[in-house]
Amino acid sequence: MNIEENVSLKAYNTFGIDVQTRKFVEFSSEKELQQLLESKLLLDFDFFVLGGGSNVVFCSNFDGVIVHPTNKGIRIVSENVETNEVIVEACAGENWSDFAWAMTKQGFYGLENLVEIPGNVGAAPIQNVGAYGVEAKDVINYVVAYEIETGARRVFEAHECKFGYRDSVFKNELKNKYIVLSVGFSLTKTMQSKSTYSSLRSLLSEKNITNPTPLQVAECIAEIRNSKLPNPKEIGSAGSFFKNPIVTCSHLETLKISYPDIVSYPAGDNYKLAAGWLIEQCGWKGKRLGNVGVFDKQALVLYNIGGCTGKEVVNLAMAIEADVESKFGVKIECEAIIIK
Ligand code: EPU
Repeated sequence: MNIEENVSLKAYNTFGIDVQTRKFVEFSSEKELQQLLESKLLLDFDFFVLGGGSNVVFCSNFDGVIVHPTNKGIRIVSENVETNEVIVEACAGENWSDFAWAMTKQGFYGLENLVEIPGNVGAAPIQNVGAYGVEAKDVINYVVAYEIETGARRVFEAHECKFGYRDSVFKNELKNKYIVLSVGFSLTKTMQSKSTYSSLRSLLSEKNITNPTPLQVAECIAEIRNSKLPNPKEIGSAGSFFKNPIVTCSHLETLKISYPDIVSYPAGDNYKLAAGWLIEQCGWKGKRLGNVGVFDKQALVLYNIGGCTGKEVVNLAMAIEADVESKFGVKIECEAIIIK
């Protein structure tokens, strides 16, 4: 375990924001994580576990410890020949999209809708990443994590993770209490995929694919993402910057009177609104403020025009939030984590 001082985080956050951290430590194995916890370093300083850095905005230098998991490894834990279920465990430091593609190509299905999401495996259970009708919670079987205070190892069953829309126990009552070592996934060797999400369905029918294989689903999703979202290799962003807000049925009915085209989806007893649509209606799509822009193909995405600071990102986000609230009476919340 090697602790570095005053390290730039520019290469460690997908927004490409140039700030420094006071201390920076990586763990590349379970043993190194145990050593880090035994050192008690994380009890003496503020800390933040930074995976792929794809969902975070740093507003200033970080006066604490950045923990960066780099542990690698994917193993088959069990295979059930009767049900076709395969349990696969992947280490926190594995790249999420590479893992999702590798499983799909190997014939272990369930992750095909989640290809091309930037970030690492260890972050997936924290915010229950999701796209195109599937969320990480649909495939997570267990999470192996270490308690920071005691150094104890614990295996969380899926139900103990209390997954919700971009939410889990690790963002709430267990926030900053555990570090994820690895994640176990329930995949299947049966060829079945969810392809009902509207943009996915449209592309499949455009290609005359009626019964898509999981690999075809993954390829279509990559195509849709490339057409709507900035290429992370070229443009700095944090993916969807905002969450889609949830409103009651009666609130939606009121909104529909003035905005009959409003985009909504049932979410339990309530409705989810497309925040991208709300932001676009406020005229923000393709606009910029300082060095931060609203992506012209998907208004949920804020991006770095060049050399932007975290404060500029927050200023733009606040202006958008204020406009959406005054036009629609709806509060939109950040999906990205803002580190002040
Ligand atoms: N829409 C607009 N204008 C926009 C963007 C979207 O009118 O600028 C409308 C679309 O026309 C569509 C609806 O909003 O009718 C939904 O759009 P889309 O399918 O692009 O999905 P989203 O709700 O905007 C969510 C996730 C994305 C994920 C997609 C696909 C959240 C916060 N975002 O976006 O996740 O890729 O669905 O499943 O839930 C991410 O989290 O980083 C991310 C990219």
